Amino acid sequence: MGKMKFSLVLMLMLAALSACKKDAGSGSADAPTPTAGGKTINFVTTQDGSPLKIDPALFTTPEAKEFMTTGKNPYIGNADAVAKGKKVFQLYSCTQCHGPEAKGQVGPNLTGPDYHYPKDANNKGMFETVWHGTNGGMGAKGIGLMDPTDPKNGISPDELLKVIAWIRSMGKSTGNE
Ligand code: HEC
Repeated sequence: MGKMKFSLVLMLMLAALSACKKDAGSGSADAPTPTAGGKTINFVTTQDGSPLKIDPALFTTPEAKEFMTTGKNPYIGNADAVAKGKKVFQLYSCTQCHGPEAKGQVGPNLTGPDYHYPKDANNKGMFETVWHGTNGGMGAKGIGLMDPTDPKNGISPDELLKVIAWIRSMGKSTGNE
């Protein structure tokens, strides 16, 4: 009997541990970052259009770097990225507010063609909206409170591009038009 209890405790511990691992995985884009040699696009906040500074060091993958220079989302139509984006959407609880199909729940439908913020029809615009939040009920990165000491907290640019690719796959436009 005592043994069974022990293994139960062990199992719970393991479960907790793997949950932690999953969290850490979201910040796995930790590698030292090549400097952005080239030009970068100017991000602006969705709240008031003021300049939005995002550390180029957070754009770790070739796709994220491409986005940083072109404003186009290279993951659009990429089946692997779309599948990953759907998982990330769940991981960061976007599902809770926007529904499992991104068609809306507490938060609005994300699949268009009509948006609260018309700029969200475009991938750069949607990226900015999610990254920095809105005035109307969604905090930055969908969380609200970002740890100011750790900009890596929450969704990464690469993950967000995959999420957006998935959202676009549920609607009609690519957002790269
Ligand atoms: C706590 C609930 C909540 C969570 C979690 C959340 N959102 Fe939102 N989201 C909202 C609400 C409410 C709005 C409407 C805000 C407004 O009108 O200003 C919104 C707006 C948006 C918009 C703008 C839609 C438009 O019509 O212009 C996008 C895009 C979006 N959310 C994406 C996401 C993504 C991606 C995630 C996960 C990383 C996420 N949200 C997590 C509640 C949430």
